Amino acid sequence: MKDAAPQTVYLRDYKPFGWRIEDVSLAFKLAPEATRVTSRIRFAPNPDAPAQDFFLHGEDVTLLRASIDGAEVTPEITPQGLRCAVPAGAFTWEAEVEIAPASNTALEGLYMSGGMYCTQCEAEGFRKITYYPDRPDVMATFTVRIESDMPVLLSNGNPAGSGDGWAEWHDPWPKPAYLFALVAGDLRNHPDRFTTRSGRDVELNIWVRPGDEGKCAWGMEALKKSMTWDEDVYGREYDLDLFNIVAVDDFNMGAMENKGLNIFNSAAVLASPETATDANFERIESIIAHEYFHNWTGNRITCRDWFQLCLKEGLTVFRDQQFTSDLRSAAVKRIEDVAQLRARQFPEDQGPLSHPVRPESFQEINNFYTATVYEKGAEVIGMLKRLVGDEAYAKALDLYFDRHDGDAATIEDWLQVFEDATGRDLSQFKRWYSQAGTPRLSVDEDWQDGTYTLTFTQVTKPTPGQPDKAPQVIPIAVGLLSPNGDEVVPTRILEMTEGRQSFTFEGLSARPVPSILRGFSAPVVLDREVPAEERAFLLAHDTDPFNRWESSRSLAREALLAMIRDGAAPDMAWIDALGRVLRDDTLDPAFRALMLGLPSQSELAQVLHEKGATPDPDVIYVATEAMADALAQRFEPMLDALAAQARVDAPYAPDAEQSGRRALGGAVLALRSRLDGGAAAKAQFEAADNMTLHLTALTCLIRAGAADLALGVFHDQWQDDRLVMDKWFGLQVAAAGPAEAADVAERLTRHPAFDWKNPNRFRAVLGALAMNHAGFHRKDGAGYRLLADWLIKLDPLNPQTTARMCSAFQTWRRYDSDRQALMKAELERIAARDGLSRDTAEMIGRILS
Ligand code: TRP
Ligand code: ZN
Repeated sequence: MKDAAPQTVYLRDYKPFGWRIEDVSLAFKLAPEATRVTSRIRFAPNPDAPAQDFFLHGEDVTLLRASIDGAEVTPEITPQGLRCAVPAGAFTWEAEVEIAPASNTALEGLYMSGGMYCTQCEAEGFRKITYYPDRPDVMATFTVRIESDMPVLLSNGNPAGSGDGWAEWHDPWPKPAYLFALVAGDLRNHPDRFTTRSGRDVELNIWVRPGDEGKCAWGMEALKKSMTWDEDVYGREYDLDLFNIVAVDDFNMGAMENKGLNIFNSAAVLASPETATDANFERIESIIAHEYFHNWTGNRITCRDWFQLCLKEGLTVFRDQQFTSDLRSAAVKRIEDVAQLRARQFPEDQGPLSHPVRPESFQEINNFYTATVYEKGAEVIGMLKRLVGDEAYAKALDLYFDRHDGDAATIEDWLQVFEDATGRDLSQFKRWYSQAGTPRLSVDEDWQDGTYTLTFTQVTKPTPGQPDKAPQVIPIAVGLLSPNGDEVVPTRILEMTEGRQSFTFEGLSARPVPSILRGFSAPVVLDREVPAEERAFLLAHDTDPFNRWESSRSLAREALLAMIRDGAAPDMAWIDALGRVLRDDTLDPAFRALMLGLPSQSELAQVLHEKGATPDPDVIYVATEAMADALAQRFEPMLDALAAQARVDAPYAPDAEQSGRRALGGAVLALRSRLDGGAAAKAQFEAADNMTLHLTALTCLIRAGAADLALGVFHDQWQDDRLVMDKWFGLQVAAAGPAEAADVAERLTRHPAFDWKNPNRFRAVLGALAMNHAGFHRKDGAGYRLLADWLIKLDPLNPQTTARMCSAFQTWRRYDSDRQALMKAELERIAARDGLSRDTAEMIGRILS
């Protein structure tokens, strides 16, 4: 049950809980409709806390009995929890409650998925399991007994005994309730072992449903690589005798870092060459690493309250990005991450949902697991590392682990560690955590008597609740090239602290060409009118791979804007410059594949909006198609040579080398399919022996309008594989043209295999529609209506996934008045529903505000 009038929680109201917990004992008697949970908790007064009533969170739980020190008590029950008179000193609380996991469709708390029991407690799900102070600053050791006839019974920590129909677990590391986990089911394991560098022998398992055993090997390799990497790079070892991962089909997000018992969306762990693409393999590797890295950044050091979420998420994303760039290609990884940031975080930061990396208030914390907290949070740490240098960063991290191990910490603690380790004053840097919005950086250049001056101006537009912005510290990585293409000044970090600030370079013999914001050294928008020749020069000569890609991107963006706004023809000068890069076979195929990618239609809409124009999704679509056709025609003579360079002769491996080749091959096939009507794609579809080639070919066939047969073949071949069928559903919507996407999605929602209660399947269809820019924004509003219909249907069952998907509407003010009115009407239709969840109500309210 949720509040009728939603309450706002404020960071400034934080106060510690009045008691400490020494140990928690839980006993579960599992039954689908009536699970009994008994808790025994030893509370002692917290000397650091102000006086307060004894209040325990609890939602959707039925209290059967409660006692204090063995004497029965009758607490006052509210929809959010219970209040009870307690003794002045330490006491033992015991309670028995009943819950119904089989009817828990929200996938939060204890629920059932595919016949197994599992839990999801972050952020505030533990209160749906039993009465407890469900807040991250209350940490305790847990002893758990599970009674069930399921063959596999798991919880956090180390096994403490088992017998027929029961098992006990003990977790010696104090942890907050959000890291609690329990799994019970008929599961198979993929076992392995790892010896830590200090000699601890750790048993590793990936647990899956029968039939999925063959899809665990990659996840296990990724886990072992993660364990080694965290020892080598951060000096962090694993701290239990056992590490379990469980795959579940019904899951709201990617995965969860529960202590010693990570629970994964099956899409984020299961893979085989036949069923998963190269992109899936890379994503699985990074999510396994992410969850594993949380063991130190999240679990051993946790968050004081949920406003500090970026303390664990920003840092852990930063760490998983470092891991992937160490294992694969750093240049490619950086380009992918920045493209993601621009696609997901920039629209958030530049629209009604904009919030600081550390928010100051929320109604529903689940709505703040955002690209801003995660990805911008990681960028902020990257900037900190750039500003203090690698050595000081390593020193600060050692101090952080030393000083805060076992703590529930804050952003203030985090920054204090850096101040103490480096002697720097970080008070201005802290604005990155408190100020929302993307700073825009403009540049003036001056050249006089051998002195070159760059003058930067930073401006951040107002965001909800923050009309005035103060200047931020911006590390601007700059290199200078001489007119002949040599680098005359290698990368230097300019540290901008003022609203407007100049930097000079002396002793140059000729006016240089600047390469600014190398490696995307800060999460800002660089507003700089650059002549096309200068961009083409950087595209050819820049030593910084990110900026080389960026030059091409900018040229493509400007060429597309000219086509959209003025009906110009595709810019042949850029296409030819790009052609020279593509032909350079000394360049990584993965990098060349990225160079062939065009800016997304949504990004183009955003840029038009910023320039004061009203984006028309149909016109943007047509221009993008015309540009792709022009690339295909111009590059036709070299497609064979490129395809040859992209060919992989070795047996399939999802490593960076092979994936890069297949990515280039895919880009080439996409161009070729514009010329041959899909003939080459058809051949590849039939010959493919891995999912990457298979799916690339199918995408090309759909776009060429030649996929009717292939879609049927694919369906019949894969109908029993849930993860592959998600691809089958999603691809048809993603690759559909603007006129058809909404109809295709609508038709798929009537397919017998459209299990809409499963978040992966729901997102495959409706999420893909929201991402198909021109299709979603179809002028008659069919896309908006279909999405709203389904969000209304899902909300009563699964508020968390519904609320996340509302963000499809966050850009509504960009568009023309007809589309705005249509989107607004759908948002209001959702908002008017009786019993709308707090999650969705908050999202719609913010989007409309
Ligand atoms: N902490 C998890 C991670 O970043 C994500 C997470 C938060 C989550 N809330 C969740 C996962 C709810 C599943 C459901 O790795
Ligand atoms: Zn995380």
